[in-house]
Amino acid sequence: MSSGCFVVLEGPEGAGKTTLLRGLADRCRALGIGAVMVREPGGTPVAEALRGELLNADRPWTPAMELLYMTTARADLVTRVIRPALAEGRAVFSDRFDLSTMAYQGAGRGLPMEHVRWVNDAATGGLTPDVTLVLDLDPAVGRERQHAAGKGADRMEREDATFHERVAQAYLAASGPGVHHLQADASPEDVLNAAWRVLQRERPETFGPTSE
Ligand code: TMP
Repeated sequence: MSSGCFVVLEGPEGAGKTTLLRGLADRCRALGIGAVMVREPGGTPVAEALRGELLNADRPWTPAMELLYMTTARADLVTRVIRPALAEGRAVFSDRFDLSTMAYQGAGRGLPMEHVRWVNDAATGGLTPDVTLVLDLDPAVGRERQHAAGKGADRMEREDATFHERVAQAYLAASGPGVHHLQADASPEDVLNAAWRVLQRERPETFGPTSE
């Protein structure tokens, strides 16, 4: 049996990750590709409870607490959901993963990157995504999109524009094995098609060969 494929969607607030995830789920279903969709923080009972606290605007979190709880949620999700699904040969799509911690707790909060990397490694046991799709979007546009969608501002979304600018810069600078940038100001269908082409190029054995 194949060892599955781990795909992560990343980007600033309002970039369209959730819409893309839905599109990818529909396409996998239509093609009979066994896929599991998760979100971070979240995806298990404990991690969803932590998410509620982490995003609660009434709670006073310090940056170090945030780092430790985000990665605690990740440790649970990796152990209980992601690794077992990959071992069954499934494609796992995660709405956010380790790059979010680099961008938000590292670049955004200013925590030392070596601490962020170390804690993340401890949480994941060294699991890294096969493909990371980064949705590039001007944070001001993301904010407008969320406002237009009537999304209530959670604790992270309420951070000021300079925080979100640091997060967006970290995403723009992200590079490495399997990291691909997509223009998130295109239509949802174009973003989905661009994402699918990347997946086919990177993992033809899972997503089928490209038609180009
Ligand atoms: P979202 O995925 O619905 O956008 O909400 C998750 C929020 O949590 C988002 O503001 C980013 C933030 N976050 C971090 O700050 N660090 C992390 O490691 C993760 C996974 C998310």
